Amino acid sequence: MDRGGSTVYLLDTTQEVPMKFGILGTGTVGRTIARKLASLGHEVTMGTRDPSATKGRSEPGAWGAPSFADWYAANTDIHLATFADTASGAEVLVNASSGGASLAVFEAAGAANLAGKVVLDIANPLDFSNGFPPSLSVSNTDSLGEQIQRAFPEARIVKTLNTVNADLMVNPASLADGDHTMFVCGNDADAKGVATRILAEDFGWKDIVDLGDITQARGTEMYLPLWVRLYGKLGTAAFNLKLVR
Ligand SMILES: NC(=O)c1ccc[n+]([C@@H]2O[C@H](COP(=O)([O-])OP(=O)(O)OC[C@H]3O[C@@H](n4cnc5c(N)ncnc54)[C@H](OP(=O)(O)O)[C@@H]3O)[C@@H](O)[C@H]2O)c1
Repeated sequence: MDRGGSTVYLLDTTQEVPMKFGILGTGTVGRTIARKLASLGHEVTMGTRDPSATKGRSEPGAWGAPSFADWYAANTDIHLATFADTASGAEVLVNASSGGASLAVFEAAGAANLAGKVVLDIANPLDFSNGFPPSLSVSNTDSLGEQIQRAFPEARIVKTLNTVNADLMVNPASLADGDHTMFVCGNDADAKGVATRILAEDFGWKDIVDLGDITQARGTEMYLPLWVRLYGKLGTAAFNLKLVR
């Protein structure tokens, strides 16, 4: 099923169509998004630098998560490949790589493999080099979303999901007040339509606000300094913004 180039998804379709997703990243976000999409019947491949080394990783994941080896053994419907193979085989991509490495990850994925693809960019440019709380490696007059879009002009970047923790991304209803708010922004209206449909139909988001073009990623990325402080104050990552208007 070729959905590359300028082909767009029909947003008024009433039928769930399995798609080929490529998830660039094997951390908490990559695993969570991959598991959710695969459980909905989509074909999912995760990208990593060295697939055989990653398959053998036995050290525990972040926040007490299982090792990648154990997680991969338990999720037999999810494939693992290089960043380039993941990008070339996917209809829709998700950037779930470390913010400081995202440009290198896209470089490894390859501009030709990214051309025409909708990319949900979840990465945040967090800089932990001076400890916690992290600062932002880019802000105010630029953003990671813009840097990626500039470096890969043929990719159709949609910044989204970066303002909540991984569990909430795919299960917003897990908060009692489930109609809290998610943002999208990007230069390509059709790509934002695809992303919005995935957020709504696959993940269950109800209040999705289109902020505008990719420069609006400055706003959602610059929310992170507040997010980490709220996390410290509340002692949980299970919270989100709800726009009351
Ligand atoms: N954790 C959350 O709940 C959450 C919430 C919102 C947004 N985010 C954002 O989502 C992104 C993913 O977060 P995460 O916690 O799941 O994972 P992460 O630890 O931030 O990133 C893991 C991925 O980054 C890749 N990576 C790291 N250094 C690299 C390098 N030097 N070159 C190439 N690739 C490199 C790793 O590749 P390998 O597979 O090869 O090791 C791995 O796939 C981050 O940008 C984060 O800020 C996270």
